[in-house]
Amino acid sequence: MNVHIKTYGCQMNIYDSELVAGILSSEGFTMIDNEENADVILVNTCTVRQHADHRALSIISQLLAKKKKNNYLKVGLLGCLAERLGDEAEKMLSGIDLVLGPDSYRIIADLLKEIPEKPYLEAENKLEDYDNIPALTKRGSSAFIAISRGCDNRCSYCIVPFVRGDERSRPADSILDEVKRLVDEGFKEITFLGQNVNSYRSNGIEFPDLLARTSDIQDLKRIRFTTSHPKDLSERLIRVIAEKENICSHIHLPVQSGSNNVLKAMNREYTREHYMSLITMIKENISYVSITTDIISGFPGETLADHQDTLDLVKTIEYDSAFTFKYSPRDGTGAFELDDNIPEAEKVRRLSEISDLQRSISTLKNKNYMGKEIEVLVESVSKRSENDLLGRTESGKNVVISNCNHPVGSICIVKVTGTTSQTLMGKSIKMIE
Ligand code: 5AD
Ligand code: SF4
Repeated sequence: MNVHIKTYGCQMNIYDSELVAGILSSEGFTMIDNEENADVILVNTCTVRQHADHRALSIISQLLAKKKKNNYLKVGLLGCLAERLGDEAEKMLSGIDLVLGPDSYRIIADLLKEIPEKPYLEAENKLEDYDNIPALTKRGSSAFIAISRGCDNRCSYCIVPFVRGDERSRPADSILDEVKRLVDEGFKEITFLGQNVNSYRSNGIEFPDLLARTSDIQDLKRIRFTTSHPKDLSERLIRVIAEKENICSHIHLPVQSGSNNVLKAMNREYTREHYMSLITMIKENISYVSITTDIISGFPGETLADHQDTLDLVKTIEYDSAFTFKYSPRDGTGAFELDDNIPEAEKVRRLSEISDLQRSISTLKNKNYMGKEIEVLVESVSKRSENDLLGRTESGKNVVISNCNHPVGSICIVKVTGTTSQTLMGKSIKMIE
């Protein structure tokens, strides 16, 4: 049976699709990249904001229309939206064959062999860590590994803990074994994933210990991780990143807002001052560090002064880049009970003010790279032109290498010849590995 997976949402979802692909291929299913010849199409969804729901529902509806014409086709809804809708999904999406949340994938092969009468199968519990399930990774030189799943925090806007359950950490030894296997297979870079990697803890091993042990693995060139909660980012973690050469000097540290009032209403459990002190410590200790963030604009009750606090913080910190979002109310969260009182047009205005400011900072920061020679790990061939390669610097900047035929996985020195707010462009001078 040919299976095609469409994936939306965060890196954890990309990894989960790789887990599903790993489970299905070990059970004799064939994973394919295009939907045309698929017997089964699975849509792995996100539900973090309303927009993600709408997109997923529209894609599923199109697939169900296609299924009406080709009766053999099976369509499954996976991921966070599947978990949030539960039994509702069957009513909303007539004809859907399977509805499985992020903790139910172990049984997916059996279910596809014999489609159940009731599409949604609730997980027995939300304790799954998929330990010992090898993910099928097909993304060039870089692999993801979830080191923890779920989240124990209750940021008031966030639906994630409700769909992904409480936090659980995967045992360190099996993570390290998986990293070694991936390095033996030729992967140069791994990214540790978790809703909050900083609170990783398994048998007394904490996140800085896990990073330090991973960094000793021979031939592993780059270690990345995401995402970090500021309240759990420790001095020890900063020291480990500073000391170990193959731990990338890039920290994604979502701030969400620069205003203490809003941070409190968001239940983020840190203040602007604490966040600033972390940034100072990071900048003082890690040379050439790149810092990125997530920001939500238009949270209930956010005043113009609160918004200004966020703009000031962005200006002071000079992030390398930022993901900016309009607040989206999610039923079931704490903030859903608050009056969503910022008009849509005002949310859009505040959002563009933040993103315009960040874009100008990113543009300037990237311009500083002009003419410099930087080390780039080649990650893929460009989709726009097969003569160009895509890669990243250690600090996580995207680089387009023009007219270059180095293999994926090679590391080269690139001379920067052009920059935008998002990308560096350049020519390879030499391949060093
Ligand atoms: N509305 C807008 N943005 C949200 N995020 C999470 N929940 C919401 C929401 N309800 C953003 C946060 C988080 C990122 C992954 O998504 O900034 O860090
Ligand atoms: Fe949501 Fe906060 Fe957990 Fe991130 S840390 S998943 S924003 S509750």
